[in-house]
Amino acid sequence: MADAGGKTLTVPQRRPLKDALAYAGRVAEARIGFALSGLEGDVPEAMLYAVAGGKALRAFLVLETARLHKIDPVAVAGAAAAIECIHAYSLAHDDMPCMDDDALRRGQPTVHKKWDEATAVLAGDGLQALAFELLAQAECPLRPKLNLVITLANAAGVRGMVGGQAADMAAETAKEPLSLDQIIALQAGKTGALISWSALVGPRMAEAEREPLTTYGNALGLAFQIADDVLDVTGDASVVGKAVGKDHAAGKATFVSLLGLDGAKNRAASLVEEACDALSPYGDDAETLKEAARFVIARTH
Ligand code: IPE
Ligand code: IPE
Ligand code: MG
Ligand code: MG
Ligand code: MG
Repeated sequence: MADAGGKTLTVPQRRPLKDALAYAGRVAEARIGFALSGLEGDVPEAMLYAVAGGKALRAFLVLETARLHKIDPVAVAGAAAAIECIHAYSLAHDDMPCMDDDALRRGQPTVHKKWDEATAVLAGDGLQALAFELLAQAECPLRPKLNLVITLANAAGVRGMVGGQAADMAAETAKEPLSLDQIIALQAGKTGALISWSALVGPRMAEAEREPLTTYGNALGLAFQIADDVLDVTGDASVVGKAVGKDHAAGKATFVSLLGLDGAKNRAASLVEEACDALSPYGDDAETLKEAARFVIARTH
């Protein structure tokens, strides 16, 4: 039990990672489903479709770092749903013919394949707006909530995910392959910004020390993208749930092309160690976050 703003709240026990991920997915999908209830038509249907079936890693980070700060999951459910909306929108647009031109996502047809390009654009747009509606409805004091709104806008926007995606597109046609430092900067936007934001929801909402989870989120985000690049080379499309071999075919400089397969895997493993070490102030309570860091590089999808 914890006291939050005068209310006595029940904070759940720590769950093993598998259960915690499944729970996070259910929380996010339920919030989004409720927000869209009563709506008919292709765009709301495509929005729900885009959100369903992912690993829910970002929603998990929101809920787990909130739990670490004794915040009731109900208070952060909106933030968990918001980050999955932004993530799902980024994927729906990333898969479109004008970007990566992919037909498969999470083992299912991509949004523009199941419907059409206009629906995929509008579903992504709708999800982005919905993210901020859900976050603004989070049950927490106004000051941390405003901080979460501003930092999510920053992480999702041109200084974060959108900026990273733009750099990633530009890299495909660049005359010189990107250097390792340039790839690290690109990923910090493309993938890192949303993951880092998710890991900071707990301390931001509790207005607590952010340093350990800043280090954790940054290292996790980088390890996550290295694992994505490794899976593009070593993965099996039927297990990964999306096309593989795309980065090499596009002539992209990735962590694998720059460091080699073993080099990339070693780099990811030392980042996971760094992420886990950063959690030492939280003791055993952070065990599921450590499990998540190890999962990020061991995953097959
Ligand atoms: C895939 O993210 C896209 C990247 C940011 C590399 P995830 O691997 O988290 O995708 P889902 O949500 O589980 O499908
Ligand atoms: C996409 O990166 C990251 C975002 C959508 C922000 P990728 O293009 O590498 O992701 P996948 O491999 O299609 O999931
Ligand atoms: Mg892409
Ligand atoms: Mg892609
Ligand atoms: Mg990829």
